[in-house]
Amino acid sequence: MDSFLIRGGIPLKGEITVSGSKNAALPILMASIAVDGEVHYGNVPDLRDIRTTIRLLNILGRQTTWKDGHACVCNGEMGIEAPYDLVKTMRASVLCLGPLLARKREARVSLPGGCAIGARPVDQHLLALEEMGAHFDLQNGYIHGVCPDGLKGAHFSFAMPTVGGTENALMAACLAQGETVMENVAREPEIVDLANFLNRCGAHIEGQGSSVITVRGVERLYGCSYDIMPDRIEAGTFLVAAGVTGGELLVKNCPSGDMAAVIGKLREAGMVIEEQQGGLLASAPSPLKSVDISTQPHPGFPTDMQAQLMVLLCCAEGSGMVKENIFENRFMHVQELVRMGADIQVNGSSALVRGGRKLEGAPVMASDLRAGAALVLAGLAAEGETKVQRVYHIDRGYDHLVDKLSAVGADIRRVNEQD
Ligand code: UD1
Repeated sequence: MDSFLIRGGIPLKGEITVSGSKNAALPILMASIAVDGEVHYGNVPDLRDIRTTIRLLNILGRQTTWKDGHACVCNGEMGIEAPYDLVKTMRASVLCLGPLLARKREARVSLPGGCAIGARPVDQHLLALEEMGAHFDLQNGYIHGVCPDGLKGAHFSFAMPTVGGTENALMAACLAQGETVMENVAREPEIVDLANFLNRCGAHIEGQGSSVITVRGVERLYGCSYDIMPDRIEAGTFLVAAGVTGGELLVKNCPSGDMAAVIGKLREAGMVIEEQQGGLLASAPSPLKSVDISTQPHPGFPTDMQAQLMVLLCCAEGSGMVKENIFENRFMHVQELVRMGADIQVNGSSALVRGGRKLEGAPVMASDLRAGAALVLAGLAAEGETKVQRVYHIDRGYDHLVDKLSAVGADIRRVNEQD
């Protein structure tokens, strides 16, 4: 198992480029299941989750090529089953349910188990698809869905704005007969990217980015070429890296229009962030000040940046409160940060971070993707050596992180247990 060895305390300086968005690429690649034709994708990030998605598409009978950020998915005789071995490594595999039902009128998808950041049920995905006429039962740990007469347009409202649930329903609705109106949908930019992709394939979707989406079903979706949007969470992670190391980074290919909540908090904490030369120039000229954060669905502060911001609070003067409202059990990074000298007290879904203490390098363990990113940031800020173990979590969502950080001056390398 690989680890990252980081010698911290070096201000990062230079240009760093953001890759394609993981959370946009996953549903947009899955959407190819619903497309009758060849799809060409650009700006596809080199991530473990993308490899898993490509494997799933292959298992489902699609032919794929993927190299240097370009992927091509074409027609093939299609299967209907997403096996447990894949779904257990990537919960987003459940996103094949909607497009499979739309295209094949049947799907068998392993029920995702629990994961490190809480229960994460899929009841809303199933309820939405049931509204469109699908029937489900649970067979040997698999969700088996059928709609023998095809899906039908429907009018329904989600109990909460779920990102994956909205995406599954959206992909299904494109090929349903008639009009679908979905209320209380998630408004994340990745959903807008998915809708834009589907519209490029011939779908009729309106309202993406607002809380009501209307879809007029079509008979067929056609192949197209599409570039995936840049990753706002990777971009935010780099901005924090500039802040906690006291460096100056020009973060290029930033989807800054979708990052207002994060950029706002970083400015409130004393960072200077300016649009410049096709990117965001980020620095922390004076000591960082603590801020409070409270995670919310988009356009609020994203839960996927909570762990990284907590590292910034550890390095800032004063105390800050972190409230996690989206996921239960998303403070797995806290105990590891405490081992590096942080002062954090967790009380239910809140964490009080008392800043102003110098972090010290230590051996730590990543428990999930964003917790792993936070530990890398802590390692970059800390004095001495940090060894981040179980970096396979980080490989799921950060494209060539070690290379990118090394290029801006970080002392970070990947080591194998044998090294
Ligand atoms: C997606 C993102 C993830 C991000 C999250 C919230 C992808 C691949 N992953 O995850 O990085 O952290 O959005 O922005 O895009 N819920 C239910 N029932 C459901 C569905 C969700 O109760 O059927 C609950 C979840 O337990 C959670 C909340 O709704 O508490 C939000 O989850 P959701 O928006 O669905 O997150 P994901 O799509 O899993």
